[in-house]
Amino acid sequence: MKATEKEKAKRNAGRRAAEFVRDGMVLGLGTGSTTYHFMVRLAERIGSEGLSVAGVPTSIQTAIRARELFIPLATLDDHPRLDLAVDGADQADRDFHLIKGRGAALTREKVVAAAAARLVIVADLEKCVERLSGTVPLEVIPFAAAPAMIAVRELGGEPAVREGRAKDGPVITDNGNYIVDCTFSAIPDPAGLEEELTLIPGVLECGLFCRYVQKTTLVAGSAEGTRVIEKR
Ligand code: A5P
Repeated sequence: MKATEKEKAKRNAGRRAAEFVRDGMVLGLGTGSTTYHFMVRLAERIGSEGLSVAGVPTSIQTAIRARELFIPLATLDDHPRLDLAVDGADQADRDFHLIKGRGAALTREKVVAAAAARLVIVADLEKCVERLSGTVPLEVIPFAAAPAMIAVRELGGEPAVREGRAKDGPVITDNGNYIVDCTFSAIPDPAGLEEELTLIPGVLECGLFCRYVQKTTLVAGSAEGTRVIEKR
């Protein structure tokens, strides 16, 4: 997919997801470029239809964008149960197992996904794959990074602390931790790997999302339109 087509695909997916929002809902607002298109369309609907909604942001970036778009913000303290969360993904397989965390927001994204009655994942079609593969991000407390990386190697992964692009040294997450990117040659059992990675001491969360498949709807975008895929 060319860059312009990819951008159109993201836009189509994000905007389509805004049609799942109903008046009065409390929403989870995911992080990333595809979710941004969802928020833009949501803001349009708030303006034109007078929708009364509030959103729990999954990152500082999303909170800033929501404020710019005049989307009312809420917290999990006030709304520990959410009606709907809309978020992006880096990969989604046929069973709706996901890899997330390119933007380092995976922990808050997982908390929000767990709190939501329904999870709508927005992604361009190229991210929809037969089997997950490649890099799984972990959020790790800095104190535990070295032993956690040994544990990742024992599970067959190649770990690397994520480095900043416009900052020297490691990326520090919104929660004050490191991201360890773990590359696996294959991921035959995503749910099993999620469990094993999450059990490593000092790992706060894992970018594999396998526990929410039953409540997930996938909105896959292409340059021409969208496909809404429900669990079979
Ligand atoms: C943030 O940490 C990620 O989980 C994003 O939701 C994911 O990387 C998708 O981002 P894009 O929509 O920008 O590709």
